[in-house]
Amino acid sequence: MAFELFSTMNRVYIKTYGCQMNERDSEQVASSLRDRGYSIVDTEYDADVVLLNTCSVRDQAEQKAIGKAGYLKKHKKDNPNFLIGVMGCMAQNRGAELFDRLPDLDLVVGTQKFHRVPDHLDNMIQSMNGQGPRPSSVLDLGEEAGSQNTIRDHIGKKGQVQAFVSIMQGCNMNCAFCIVPKTRGRERARPIQEIVDEVIGLAESGVKEITLLGQIVTSYGRRDFPVVNGKSPFVQLLEKIEEIPGIERIRFTSPHPRGFKQDLVEAYRDLSKLCEYVHLPLQAGCNKTLRAMNRPYTKERYREIVDSLRAMVPSMYFSTDIIVGFPGETEADFNETAAMFDDIAFDMAYIFKYSIRTGTPAETMPDQIPQEEKERRNQVLLDLLHKHSLARNEGLVGTTEQVLVEGPAKKGDKYVGHTRGWRNAIFDANERLVGQLVDLKIDRATASTVYGDLVLAGVEA
Ligand code: SAH
Ligand code: F3S
Repeated sequence: MAFELFSTMNRVYIKTYGCQMNERDSEQVASSLRDRGYSIVDTEYDADVVLLNTCSVRDQAEQKAIGKAGYLKKHKKDNPNFLIGVMGCMAQNRGAELFDRLPDLDLVVGTQKFHRVPDHLDNMIQSMNGQGPRPSSVLDLGEEAGSQNTIRDHIGKKGQVQAFVSIMQGCNMNCAFCIVPKTRGRERARPIQEIVDEVIGLAESGVKEITLLGQIVTSYGRRDFPVVNGKSPFVQLLEKIEEIPGIERIRFTSPHPRGFKQDLVEAYRDLSKLCEYVHLPLQAGCNKTLRAMNRPYTKERYREIVDSLRAMVPSMYFSTDIIVGFPGETEADFNETAAMFDDIAFDMAYIFKYSIRTGTPAETMPDQIPQEEKERRNQVLLDLLHKHSLARNEGLVGTTEQVLVEGPAKKGDKYVGHTRGWRNAIFDANERLVGQLVDLKIDRATASTVYGDLVLAGVEA
């Protein structure tokens, strides 16, 4: 009887608001719930439990999730056992305050406790099945040694050709604007061998492209593992992954300019699987603003890294993060950032309007910038990005680029893939080509996408 009841209450919908790390954490929770007999469903309407995994980096995602959680309580009318949880960065950031804001919330689980979600749900559901009182809400936010090693299982979607692998948690920097050190805690690295074993497993299941994830991957293991032959632990990890048969492409996000040394520049020359694309957060191209942000490098040093990468690999693609409207950023400061942004000619960028985060040093800085001015600066950079991205893509017309065929495109009957430089590509293909690396002859381009025909001679189509 208890089992029957349980079996009708085990459908979980996980909604993620945030970055790839949040997505990866959600996958881990999904995988651990499946192992416990829960089923993961695609909408809240089929669910008995909804878990919101929410980013805190900017206010917008938090507001969205709070709105969503408020709206979800209507499901409790039809299904009195319906459970609502918040996990991840927002849970960590706001903690118990969330219960005041959202009285219908049942579960708040922090970033070091994702692996405890199945236990918490089991306990709550069991107590409801015993027809006992509705379980009291659960708040689980503590630090936990070794929690970085718990993000390791994959949901094993059929035909999956790309996967994210979490290599570390936390960040020890103190960028004045950033909430991540609070939500993710101190830097903790996973052992190289565990990561390698995870990637071998993924390769055996058909994954071809791996993206290594961490808040500051250039700091990976720097306190735990020695430098060997002048190579940092992160570069040693890349070398190990290069050797894994079946893996064809390696990417990572995000490095920090401070830890971006010559060994990593040379890795782009020496490791054939390491794609010639780097996401290197700049934040501002003005030394005064960088100092105010507590970013420990100058625009000149950043430029040096870009130049040394271009010298090593001329076709290198560059992506970055920029914040506009940081407190005290004058028109002249912004123009300096815009000029540098234009000069480097980024192929891709995430441009953020500064968002006040409670408890960070920048919160109380004077000279906060009005919203309209942030919007304006944002648009200036978006226009520059459009120009450079279009020029880069147009430069590819008439050339042939390798693409990894990822699957059907969202619309129409075409297929989608990416070049090594992470240009989005659309082309005709078929199911059998999914997971294969095929040359694409590019004949047309927009700022966001290149189009063309696959060169199928010698490829098993
Ligand atoms: N080192 C991490 C950074 C995580 S936050 C990584 O690159 O993975 C991602 C980006 O969000 C930052 O690089 C920064 O550009 C932006 N960001 C962080 N805090 C912000 C804030 N308070 N307002 C606006 N953008 C912010
Ligand atoms: Fe945040 Fe700066 Fe770390 S942006 S994640 S504190 S490097």
